[in-house]
Amino acid sequence: MYVCNCNGVTRGEVAEAIEAGAQKPTDVLAHHGCEPCCGRCLPEIAETIGGAKAGSLVAAE
Ligand code: FES
Repeated sequence: MYVCNCNGVTRGEVAEAIEAGAQKPTDVLAHHGCEPCCGRCLPEIAETIGGAKAGSLVAAE
């Protein structure tokens, strides 16, 4: 399933970019050689980044 329809970036690719250290939605797209077009996917990517950070905080405790 695509998160970013403009660039064809999937959920798995978003997760991969976050694991590689992407801190912002634009970092996630840049990790895959893309740039935001319409920007509609950015809030969802930001949520995924936030969820990953919260998850890693829980895991660290
Ligand atoms: S859906 Fe990602 S920039 Fe348009």
